[in-house]
Amino acid sequence: MIVTVRPLADDELAAAWELGRLAFGGPVPPPDWALRPVDGLLRLGAFDARGRLVGKATDTGHHQWWGGRAVATADVGGVAVLPEHRGAGVARALLADLLARGRERGAAVSALFPTVSGLYRRLGWEVVGALQRAELDAASLPSGPVPGVEVRPGEPADLAVADVLYETLARPRAGLLTRRGGAFDLPHEGRWPEDVDGVTVAEQSGVPTGVLVYERGSGYGPEARLTVHDLLAVTPEAARALVGVLAGWRTVTRTVRVPLLAGDAVAGVLPLERSPGGPGAVFMHRPVDVVRAVADRGWPAHVRGRVAFTLLDPVVTENTGAWELELADGAGELRRAGREPGLTLDVRAFAQLYCGVTTGHAAALAGLVTGPDDPAALDLLAAGPRAELLDYF
Ligand SMILES: CC(C)(COP(=O)(O)OP(=O)(O)OC[C@H]1O[C@@H](n2cnc3c(N)ncnc32)[C@H](O)[C@@H]1OP(=O)(O)O)[C@@H](O)C(=O)NCCC(=O)NCCS
Repeated sequence: MIVTVRPLADDELAAAWELGRLAFGGPVPPPDWALRPVDGLLRLGAFDARGRLVGKATDTGHHQWWGGRAVATADVGGVAVLPEHRGAGVARALLADLLARGRERGAAVSALFPTVSGLYRRLGWEVVGALQRAELDAASLPSGPVPGVEVRPGEPADLAVADVLYETLARPRAGLLTRRGGAFDLPHEGRWPEDVDGVTVAEQSGVPTGVLVYERGSGYGPEARLTVHDLLAVTPEAARALVGVLAGWRTVTRTVRVPLLAGDAVAGVLPLERSPGGPGAVFMHRPVDVVRAVADRGWPAHVRGRVAFTLLDPVVTENTGAWELELADGAGELRRAGREPGLTLDVRAFAQLYCGVTTGHAAALAGLVTGPDDPAALDLLAAGPRAELLDYF
């Protein structure tokens, strides 16, 4: 089916919301921001020959932290096609267009949370991780006074404290959103955002070192659950104090759900072995522009080396070809290779290596790397920390 893909006009946003509501079961009436333009958000529509809206997708305009540097993305959300037009290439057309526009405006990488990985795999994204969270019995959490830490109830203004602590923790990692721009800048006018009921702040010598942002949920029986949106601590003492506050909820919310960041101070306090659930929603990644994906991020300063490979990208064909990667002094460069490289990798292997979740050998065993050279040389591309995400979109 031939469709025209273009940015949605303001008076088409209601129809696009309705299309998404049909697919995902969102609220009626729509939230205010869905019906007006939001800076940084690019909403695309696919139109049939008669000019009817048959599909939509949003480029969220996020940035992600990669080794201390904010990298521009074409992260994707809200992909939906009318039921009567599915299976006819509408999503493919939308996503190819979204990637081309993303490339045009300087995006380097793209992440998304799939409802179906098969679709996105065919378009070059690959699964690289999942939201990590623990579901814990509040009674199992350690509690008790932590000398030197004061905890206090927060106000909506303390969400700015959460932003600062989040940035301290997220900036040196890989893949986490910067939480700036686009939907993150929607004002909440001194009130709690819709899904927040309260904040607890931990301070040491008057300086905020931890924050707990939570949604209370309803009831106080066995089924009651407190959902933590952020549990951020930049000292082990703040982590212990805030987990102690969570433990205090044990009489009314037996279960607490906590998002996890690998190896942070909070993970060092929680009894994670007691969490029965597996990980949350998986996320996928792909490069939008491989040259920028390498140049715009920070790389581990101690890693140095070169590797040449041929990359195959069936959708963003500018990424296809023979490349040489060089890393030195915390920076990376990808340039066209002079000779035919002895390794060929699928763009999905590039995504997995870039996100630090595989090795050259493992990718070869998965059929995503071929060629006569030793695939271990590709471990250079996997030199950074493993990609993570804390925000669902
Ligand atoms: C998922 C959805 C967006 C796919 O849209 P679509 O227009 O039917 O997809 P396309 O026809 O463009 O398919 C593109 C490719 O993905 C593949 N694909 C599509 N749906 C798939 C599925 N459910 N499982 C596996 N592969 C799928 C197609 O085979 C096609 O591959 P090809 O082009 O190499 O032959 C559509 O079914 C939908 O709106 N579903 C409800 C909402 C939803 O789940 N959105 C996704 C949110 S992440």
